[in-house]
Order: sequence, then C-alpha cells, then structure tokens
Amino acid sequence: MDRMGRRDALRNLAAGAAAAGGLGVAASAVNAQGWTDPFNEGFDGSEFVLPELPYAYDALEPHYDEETVTIHHDKHHAGYVRGANAAMEALAEIRGGDRPGSEIKHWERQLAFAGSGHVLHTLFWLGMTPGGSEPTGDFADAMEDSFGSVEACREHLTAATGSVEASGWGILGYLPLTDSLIILQAEKHQNLTVQGVVPLLVIDVWEHAYYLKYQNNRGDFVQAWWEIANLEYASMRYAAVRGM
Ligand SMILES: [Fe+2]
Repeated sequence: MDRMGRRDALRNLAAGAAAAGGLGVAASAVNAQGWTDPFNEGFDGSEFVLPELPYAYDALEPHYDEETVTIHHDKHHAGYVRGANAAMEALAEIRGGDRPGSEIKHWERQLAFAGSGHVLHTLFWLGMTPGGSEPTGDFADAMEDSFGSVEACREHLTAATGSVEASGWGILGYLPLTDSLIILQAEKHQNLTVQGVVPLLVIDVWEHAYYLKYQNNRGDFVQAWWEIANLEYASMRYAAVRGM
C-alpha cells in the first residue's frame, strides 16, 4: 500500500474509535422529562474535561472521607482526563501523518486506559450523594424485573464488586439487546475499551476469522475487509443510537 493509502486506512480505523467514543452519544442523554445527564459535562464538545464534584469534598463524610475524595478527584481523575486528551490528540496526529503509524497501538491502549478511567470516574462521582437515595420509577421496576428485587440487585452488585480480581469496578449497566439491567465486573478498567462506547462496526481478528485464507497476514485480511464493510448499516445504527 502506498503512503496515502496507508494514511487513509489509519484515518478510517481510528476515526471509528473516536466517533463511537465520542461523544455524540452522550449529547443525546436527555430523558423524556428534559433532564440532561450531568455525565455530559465530561466532554465540552472538543475535549474531555474534569467535571466539578456535584457536592462538597467533605459532603460524603463519614462514609467517604474528604482527603480521599479530594486526591481521588483532583489528582487521579484529572490524570485520566489529561491522558485521554493526549491520546485523542496523538491519534489525530497519526491520522494526519504527523506521527508514525507504528505508534497507533500505544496510543489506542492509552486511550482505552485513560478514556475508561474518565468515563467510569465521572459516573462514580455522580453515583454518590450525601445520605444516599432510593431508585424510582422505571429504574426501580427494571431492578425488580432483572434481578428479582431491588435488594437482590444490591446484594448481587455488592458480591460482584467485592470479588473483582485485583483492581477494577463493579458495574450496574443496561444492555439494549435484552432491554434489561446487567451487572458486570471490570478488571482494571479498559482491556481495551472506553467504557460506554456503543459498538457500530466491528472487525473480528481472532485467527479463526481469517487464518484459512490469510494465514498470518492479518493486515491483508483487514484491508480486504474494507472492501466488504457495511458502512450503511453502521450509519443506520449510529442514527438509532443517537435517537435520530
Ligand atoms: Fe479511582
């Protein structure tokens, strides 16, 4: 492949990750009552930003101490924001030919690590409030439908979170495919995704997907895949995800 072709391919590949991560998906997070998800404050339209805490640093005392909250938010979470922006910038430079394509693996890993850290920490802060609160409306019904009861959901999430191997997260999420809630463990927090990304178009590069024809030439398979890629389907799914 010539240099331009390689550059175009990189642009196409990396743009998929950027578009899905990006953030247009968050912009649609307004519910039927007109409530806008404060999670959106984690992105200002051009870059990731560190949202201010929705409460005072000491507001979660004595359950979550002021010093830990301060360091966790101002140092750790801020570091993820810087890292995610640096990765997005570097990937744009690779697409533009200003950095070598050989760096893409490094920066995709950085994007997954820091981007997931930013997404999950933004949700972590919003998922706490002084005194706690109870589920309401359709969400309370969904907890019962998905787990049997609100208490069963609480116990499941507690057990799942407590048994995460090494560093990670307990996650209560929504799976559109089943229209139900789901509890997951996340080890570390990336491996190698940005949590919250909705897949639009995927390429299987397990060896079973290409080895009979392409043997060890994965790159040739990926190039050939672009000849059969269904971008119209991805376009329709993108519109559906955004509620367009
Ligand atoms: Fe953290």
